[in-house]
Amino acid sequence: MKTLLELIQHRRSCRSFLPRAIETDKTAQLAKALLWSPSSKNNRPWDFIFVDDVETIRLLSTCKPHGASFMSGAPLAVVIVGDMEKSDVWVEDCAIAAILLQMTVESIGLGSTWVQVRLRAHDEQLTASDYIKKILNIPANLEVASIIAIGYKAKERAAYSDAELLNERIHHNRFSQD
Ligand SMILES: Cc1cc2nc3c(=O)[nH]c(=O)nc-3n(C[C@H](O)[C@H](O)[C@H](O)COP(=O)(O)O)c2cc1C
Repeated sequence: MKTLLELIQHRRSCRSFLPRAIETDKTAQLAKALLWSPSSKNNRPWDFIFVDDVETIRLLSTCKPHGASFMSGAPLAVVIVGDMEKSDVWVEDCAIAAILLQMTVESIGLGSTWVQVRLRAHDEQLTASDYIKKILNIPANLEVASIIAIGYKAKERAAYSDAELLNERIHHNRFSQD
C-alpha cells in the first residue's frame, strides 16, 4: 500500500476513462472522504451531488467552453456546492473536500480531474454555476465550486519526480535572506 506522500506523487489529472462503472462500495468510500473533510468551525458549508447519469454528465461537460468537455467520458461526476451563508470561507472548505476526494480516488485505484466552476462563465449571459444549478435543481442560494470527474484510468500517467520539485519555493524562517 502506498504512503500518503507516494499517493500525492502519483496523483495526476486523468481526463480519459474506461467505460466501466464505479462499484457502490467505492462510491461509499468517496462519500465518507467528503463528509469527513475538515471545515472552518466545523460549519460544513457544502453539499455533494454524485452524478452517474450519462446524459446529465454530458450536459455538465458543456458547463463552460474550455476544460470541461473531457468530462463527457467520465462514469461519475461529483458536483461540489457551497453555501456562503453558512461560512465566509466556504471556498476553502469546498476546495479541501475536493482535494481529499481526489486523494481518496487515487488511493482506491481510480483517476480524477478537477473542473473549475466558481468564477467561470458558461456564456456571455450565464455563469457556469447558474447553468449547472438549473440542470441539477440546486437551490438559488448555493454556488457550485467545482466538479470532480472520476473513473477508471484509461492510461497511467507518469508520477512526479524529484527533478520537478520547485525547491526554491520553500523558504526558511524568512522569504529572503537579503
Ligand atoms: C483549482 C483547480 C482548477 C482546475 N480546473 C481544471 C479545469 O477546469 N479543467 C481541467 O481539465 N483541469 C483543471 N484542473 C487540473 C489542473 O490543470 C492540473 O491539476 C494541473 O495541470 C497539474 O496537473 P496534475 O493534476 O496532473 O498534477 C484544475 C486544478 C485545480 C487545482
